[in-house]
Amino acid sequence: MSEAASHILQVRDLSVRYGAGPVVHGVALDVASGTVAALLGANGAGKSSTLRAIAGLEPAQGQLHFDGQDISRWSSAQRFRAGIAYVPEGRAIVTDLSVADNLTLGAYFVDAPLRARRRQMVLEFFPEIANRLKAPAGLLSGGEQQMLAIGRGLMSGPRLLLLDEPSLGLAPLLVARVYERLAVIQKEQKLAALLVEQSFHAAAKLATRAWVMRHGHLVGELDAKALRTREGRQQAIDAYLGARQAEPAHATTA
Ligand SMILES: Nc1ncnc2c1ncn2[C@@H]1O[C@H](COP(=O)(O)OP(=O)(O)OP(=O)(O)O)[C@@H](O)[C@H]1O
Ligand SMILES: [Mg+2]
Repeated sequence: MSEAASHILQVRDLSVRYGAGPVVHGVALDVASGTVAALLGANGAGKSSTLRAIAGLEPAQGQLHFDGQDISRWSSAQRFRAGIAYVPEGRAIVTDLSVADNLTLGAYFVDAPLRARRRQMVLEFFPEIANRLKAPAGLLSGGEQQMLAIGRGLMSGPRLLLLDEPSLGLAPLLVARVYERLAVIQKEQKLAALLVEQSFHAAAKLATRAWVMRHGHLVGELDAKALRTREGRQQAIDAYLGARQAEPAHATTA
C-alpha cells in the first residue's frame, strides 16, 4: 500500500455490533500522520463505538492498519503498546487515586526514568494539575479532570491519540482552554489524533478533516476549508444532520 506511509491510521469496512444489530456500519476513514481528524455526530451515532473499536476495546469486523501494519486482530493491550492511546469520554479518571497515580497508570509499562520525563512534559502542558499531584483526582474541577485524562493518555508516549469528546460537560471557557492546550501539544509533538465531538465548532479548533456520522454510517466529509468557517460547518450540519436528512448514505445538500 503506497498510501500507508502517509497515513498513520487506515480504517476499512469497520462494523461494530452489540448483540442485536450493528451500530457501526462499514466505516472507512484515514488519519494522515501528524494531523488531527474528527468524527462528528449526534448522540448515539456510533462515534464512541468506532473509537473504542479502533482501540481494540469492542469486538469489531473490518480492517485496521496502523503505521502500515495490520492490527485488526491485535488486542487492546498490543495496540496500546504500539502507540494507540484512547482517552475515554466523561473524563474517566480514577477519582480515589491521586493525580500523580492517575498519570502513572498511563505509563505502567514504561521504565521509571522515562516515566519521570513524560510526567514532567505533561505537567508543563497542564500547569493546572502540576501543583495538585498529591490530591485525590476526584477533587479536581471538571476541566482539570479532563486535562488529567488527556495527560494520562500522553504518558504512554502515543503516536495516535483517540480523544472521545474532550469538551463533554465542560463550560465553554474550559472547552477553549482544553483545546488550546491540545493544539500546543499537537503542534509540538506532531501527534496524530482522531477526535470525537458533537460540537463541530470545538472540533474545528484542531481538526483539518472530519467525517459526519449518523446512525452508524459516515454520511459526509468536511475538508479543512469547510471546517474553518462558520458557514462551512453550518452547511455540513444542515446537509448531514438536519431535519431534511433522508437516507444516511445519500444525504442531500441543504
Ligand atoms: N455496550 C453497549 N451495549 C449495547 N449497546 C450499546 C453499547 N454501547 C453503545 N451502544 C449503542 O450503540 C449506539 C451507538 O453508541 P455510541 O456510544 O457509539 O454513540 P456516540 O455517537 O458515541 O454517542 P454520544 O455522543 O452520546 O456519546 C447507541 O445506540 C448505543 O445505545
Ligand atoms: Mg460517545
